[in-house]
Amino acid sequence: MNGQTAGAKIDYDQIARRYDSFRGGRGPYLELLVELAASLGARRILEVGAGTGNNTLAFHAAAPSASLFACDLSCGMIQRAREKEAPGAWLRADAHHLPFTAQSFDFCFGCYMLHYIHDLAAFTGECSRVLAAGCVAFVTASHEFIDRHPMNRYFPSFAAVDKARFPSIDLLKAALAAAGFQDVCEKRMVVAQGPIGPDYLKRVENRFISTFDLLSEDEFNTGLARLRADIHARGRLDVMSEWETVAVWARKGPG
Ligand SMILES: C[S@@+](CC[C@H](N)C(=O)[O-])C[C@H]1O[C@@H](n2cnc3c(N)ncnc32)[C@H](O)[C@@H]1O
Repeated sequence: MNGQTAGAKIDYDQIARRYDSFRGGRGPYLELLVELAASLGARRILEVGAGTGNNTLAFHAAAPSASLFACDLSCGMIQRAREKEAPGAWLRADAHHLPFTAQSFDFCFGCYMLHYIHDLAAFTGECSRVLAAGCVAFVTASHEFIDRHPMNRYFPSFAAVDKARFPSIDLLKAALAAAGFQDVCEKRMVVAQGPIGPDYLKRVENRFISTFDLLSEDEFNTGLARLRADIHARGRLDVMSEWETVAVWARKGPG
């Protein structure tokens, strides 16, 4: 079994440890997700594409009595989550075919996994099926954020690669509405990340976002050399790093 995703050259089984050491979770969206689940009194929570368990750990800390389920396509990511003693029942599953009976959950969410979904209608339909009356929520990157990302100036294909795989926020909202969800909402959150200096360079060297795995080796190495030279020459870039994250959520009514 492997965690390679359709159409993408990213093998999460291979990169699970690297991913986990450079992606600690702790995003500004966690509070919103926890509040949404709490406002519903959600008792049965499903995380899809749960990776190495950063979000389940946060959920468990905020709502220790909720029953947590987490699924991911990659055995390597799940293994890393288990090593971290991430709470919940973990299983390997493809988000397009969730292995749960209808109306099993009150709250279903996924963070930074929509860009691996090749059939958004099938996936949102599955989320609707496994939810009883409750809420679905996703965290993702907007095309606007991708377009203004500071790494575009070093890696010319950066925005094209990511816009080809991340659904636009409008597309996501339309898919949720088409799957029968109501009251579709979005919230954009921006967090200042500080200067783009040696620490950021180290993260790029370690391909802390999968975009870098999808560039040609030539483009990656050329862009990295330019980034390294600029940071070595000036200590930092003349732009600051910021992280914009978008949460989109919607309600499934009873019946
Ligand atoms: C960028 S990681 C995000 C992990 C986690 N949600 C987080 O916020 O740290 C994307 C995750 O989606 C998983 N994934 C990719 N395609 C999937 C699919 N079809 N079904 C379930 N999980 C999938 C990958 O294995 C990986 O763990």
